[in-house]
Amino acid sequence: MTVHSLPGKASHSFGKDLLTVSAISPAHVARLLRLAAQLKAKRRRGVVYQPLIGATLGLLFEKPSTRTRVSFEAGMNQLGGQSLFLSTADIQLCRGETIADTARVLSRYLDGLVIRTYDHAIVEEWAQQATIPVINGLTDLFHPCQALSDLLTIREKKGPLKGVKLAYVGDGNNVSNSLIEAAVKVGMIVNVACPSGYEPDQRIVDVAREEAEKTGASVTLTENPHIAVKEADVVYTDVWISMGREREQSRRLKILAPYQLNERLLKGARPDAIVMHCLPAHRGQEITAGVLDGEHSVVLDQAENRLHMQKAILVEWLSARKQYKGTGKKWA
Ligand code: CP
Ligand code: NVA
Repeated sequence: MTVHSLPGKASHSFGKDLLTVSAISPAHVARLLRLAAQLKAKRRRGVVYQPLIGATLGLLFEKPSTRTRVSFEAGMNQLGGQSLFLSTADIQLCRGETIADTARVLSRYLDGLVIRTYDHAIVEEWAQQATIPVINGLTDLFHPCQALSDLLTIREKKGPLKGVKLAYVGDGNNVSNSLIEAAVKVGMIVNVACPSGYEPDQRIVDVAREEAEKTGASVTLTENPHIAVKEADVVYTDVWISMGREREQSRRLKILAPYQLNERLLKGARPDAIVMHCLPAHRGQEITAGVLDGEHSVVLDQAENRLHMQKAILVEWLSARKQYKGTGKKWA
C-alpha cells in the first residue's frame, strides 16, 4: 500500500457545519462528488490516504443507525483519524446537562461532531453552540449525507446528472426533502408522488424550485405514482414509518399502500431505470422483495457510496479548519 495525496486545490468557501444540502453551492456539490469518486478509486486501488491523522470525530446519535454510523466510523479510520460513538443514554445529556454546555465541552476535545436526532432545531442548536463542524447525520426534516452520496450513485449509473429524471414515490420525509435539495443543485428533473398530507415540506420545495431555476432542474409534485414514474431514469422510495413515527403506523400503512414500489409501478419507468432505497427497507410495505432484490436495484452500491461520500465530507469539513500532522499529506 502506498500513502498518497489527492490532486486539486481546496477552496474552503463553505460554512462551518453541514446541516442541509440547500446550504451548499452547486460548485461545492460538484467538488464533493469529484472528491468522493477519487477517494473511492483510491480505496479500490488499496492506496492509503490519511489526511486526518490526529483528528477525532464524535458521533452522537439519538436514533438507531447502521449505515451512517458505520460509514462515518470506518471512513474516519481510513482517513487516519479516530471516532467516538456517544450514545445519549451514556453521557450527562440524559441527566439534564444542556446541549450548550455539552457542545462547548466536546468542542475542546473533538474535531467534528455527527449528530442524529429528531427535531431539526436540535442539530441547529448543536451547530450554534459547538465551535467545531457539526454534520447532520439525519433529523426528522433532513438527511443531507444520504442525498449527497445518492448523487454519486446516480452519476455512476447514469452519467452526467443534468437532465436525469428522478421519481421519488411514497412518504415525503427527511430523505425526500434532502434528495430534492440535492437533485436541484445538479439540474435533475424531479417528480415526487405522495398522498395528500404526506408531501415533502412545502418550504423546502419552494426553495428548491428557486434553485432549480438557476440550474435547469425542476420539481413536480403529484398524488399519482404512475405519473411520477413515467419514463424515469431513477425510481426512489423510502420507508413509510420513519423513526419517531411509530405511533402513526396503522394510518400510514393504509394511506401509503397505493404508493408501493412494485413490479407494476416500475414498468412505467425507463427499461434501464435504477431502483434506489436508502435502507433499511421493509419488503412488502414501501417496496416489494422482487423490486428491492431485482435487476434494477442498486441499493448495495448506494449503501457502499455512503462510505466514500462520508469520507469526502470529513476531508472537506474537518480539514478545512485544521492542519493535521501525520504521515498523510493534507489535500490543499
Ligand atoms: N440510510 C441510513 O441512513 O441508514 P442508517 O439509518 O442505518 O444509518
Ligand atoms: N426516513 C427514514 C430514513 C432512515 C435512514 C427515517 O427517518 O427513519
